[in-house]
Amino acid sequence: MKYQHIIEVNKDLCIGCGLCKNDCPVNNIVIENKKSVIKNQDCLMCGHCAAICPVSAITLTGFDEPPIELTEKPNLDSDELLMAIKSRRTIRNFKDKEVSPEIVNQIIEAGRYTPSAKNSQDVSYIVLDKEKAVYEEAAVKFFRKIKPVANIAVKYSKEVSIDDNFFFKHAPIAIMVVTKDKISGSLAASNMALMAESYGLGVLFSGLFSDVANNSLNLRKLLTLKHGDHVITTLVIGYPNVKYRRTVQKEAANVRYL
Ligand SMILES: Cc1cc2nc3c(=O)[nH]c(=O)nc-3n(C[C@H](O)[C@H](O)[C@H](O)COP(=O)(O)O)c2cc1C
Repeated sequence: MKYQHIIEVNKDLCIGCGLCKNDCPVNNIVIENKKSVIKNQDCLMCGHCAAICPVSAITLTGFDEPPIELTEKPNLDSDELLMAIKSRRTIRNFKDKEVSPEIVNQIIEAGRYTPSAKNSQDVSYIVLDKEKAVYEEAAVKFFRKIKPVANIAVKYSKEVSIDDNFFFKHAPIAIMVVTKDKISGSLAASNMALMAESYGLGVLFSGLFSDVANNSLNLRKLLTLKHGDHVITTLVIGYPNVKYRRTVQKEAANVRYL
């Protein structure tokens, strides 16, 4: 975690119910004299103790936002959710229509609230919008240079020509997901894509742009990526200019129940 946080127990409010102690994943809470006591401040800072407390006796300092009181669990319709997942397609043809900053914020919120390994929250986002042509140009330049190698190594490469909009396909924005932990970054990206789709947006996960960003020194410099920053994926986002009329067929799941 980037910032220091402190877990505080308000002894006047604590009723010693032990819910926090039982839910703590790192066994960092004891009950002493019928009150919760935090053993040390070097824990995951996952916030479970504060979230589960029935009397709001536990707080975590140093965050920009208060917790949201949860009166009802949000209702996710499972059939609708599965249909949304099934009907989603990679979009490579976008309308000439801006994505509002509010929607971009919501997409990033979906990433920010995604769980991360050890609650590291070490995922950052680079939004390419007005200046994205500069980065696309640098990526195209790099990719044209390595295309002969790709033509040998990648099955479909020969058939694909690299025009000036090869990476972003005229989409209004692209959001790069940058992190050291691949799984945390991928999970964030997946939730971000779902959020984008809930606004009627289409998404292309650009592995290719991310690869170029990871490997081209010039592009890394332009993006001011630091040593160790890894671009997990880049979500190219915009309103789809295509309509898919049916789902695509996927192979049966390879599942083993043991
Ligand atoms: C990690 C990842 C990287 C991808 N990178 C690219 C890419 O660079 N360019 C592209 O056109 N499609 C890319 N795709 C899209 C896949 O080709 C696409 O998901 C797949 O063909 C299935 O199509 P569908 O998403 O419409 O179901 C990527 C998808 C994923 C999940």
